[in-house]
Amino acid sequence: MRVGVLTGGGDCPGLNAVIRAVTKSLIHRCGAEVVGFVDGFRGLIENDTQPLGWADASGLLTLGGTILGTSNKANPFQYWREDGADVSDRAAGVYREHGLDALVVIGGDGTMSIAHRLQQKGLRMVGVPKTIDNDLVGTDRTFGFDTAAMIATEAMDRLHTTAQSHHRVMICETMGRYAGWIALYAGVGAGADVVLLPEFPYHLDEVLRVCKAREAGGQRFTIISIAEGAHPEGGEMAVAKTIPGSPDPVRLGGACQVLGAALEAQLESEVRTTILGHVQRGGSPTPFDRVLSTRFGTYAAQLVADGANGVMVARRDGKMTAVPFAEVADKTKLVQADDPLVRAALDVGTSFGTPALTPDLDTMG
Ligand code: F6P
Repeated sequence: MRVGVLTGGGDCPGLNAVIRAVTKSLIHRCGAEVVGFVDGFRGLIENDTQPLGWADASGLLTLGGTILGTSNKANPFQYWREDGADVSDRAAGVYREHGLDALVVIGGDGTMSIAHRLQQKGLRMVGVPKTIDNDLVGTDRTFGFDTAAMIATEAMDRLHTTAQSHHRVMICETMGRYAGWIALYAGVGAGADVVLLPEFPYHLDEVLRVCKAREAGGQRFTIISIAEGAHPEGGEMAVAKTIPGSPDPVRLGGACQVLGAALEAQLESEVRTTILGHVQRGGSPTPFDRVLSTRFGTYAAQLVADGANGVMVARRDGKMTAVPFAEVADKTKLVQADDPLVRAALDVGTSFGTPALTPDLDTMG
């Protein structure tokens, strides 16, 4: 059996742990030959490969990044290096040239959509759900999210102490694209007073009300966890730059500065902003992500060995399962108002900056 592996889209902690698990498990289970494609689908299009033997897959569990490299622009159906041409037949040719029985793609929604289309061209594909954003449907968790949420929580803990000393409003911006999972988990984990998510456009008056109530109540500092996609009601998301050739060219960033400027104009307290950025994607995965990556990778190998096709491995209620690409591709899992963590946050007095999701501060002493 010959199996290809690639990592696509933005990197995240746990990619190497999945490469390790897929490779070792395939060798262990069926003596497979494993070949890695370099820089995501670019490697498949341009036949750029590196061998993945047992020794190559050793020492990867704790290593950040991806030893295979990745790309967020290498879409075979719209290849940026060739003026957006459809080079998917060439990519399929490389797959066949290598005599592959299957290709394991480790990536987010963009990667799963491409995998789905390649599967429809007759290639056997199995996906593994990666992204710090945790926004893939069909799985309770993506690997990389726990690490990003941990990094963001720790950053907010540190902002907490300096906010307290200087009696400031500290606004901390997380990644997450159009989903607020990182800001929600880190905000709850760090005890933020206000959590602002793309899913619930905020009302400036409501955020001001919380800050002023804290000033008046003697708690002369406020911690705000804001997702990069958060925006005021009726306003736009803050765009940092656009990347031509990327499947989603918009790169968000600066939501904290938009909010900070608006708050500072109306508050006595000073306001400071922090954008966490790619720090959330770097370094070693948490134990949770190491375990999840190992489970995802070995389960993907099992699916390949069992002949599965067109599915993404997933974790549901703690168990491994397989979800068809068709149920996953081009969809985004967003935070819902009835999410148990949103309700828990409200119960402990956290505001989501909108009248519909703000606890009654008067009852909270
Ligand atoms: O999807 C992962 C992610 O880190 C998002 O949270 C963020 O918006 C985006 O990728 C950043 O992309 P890039 O690495 O291209 O700046």
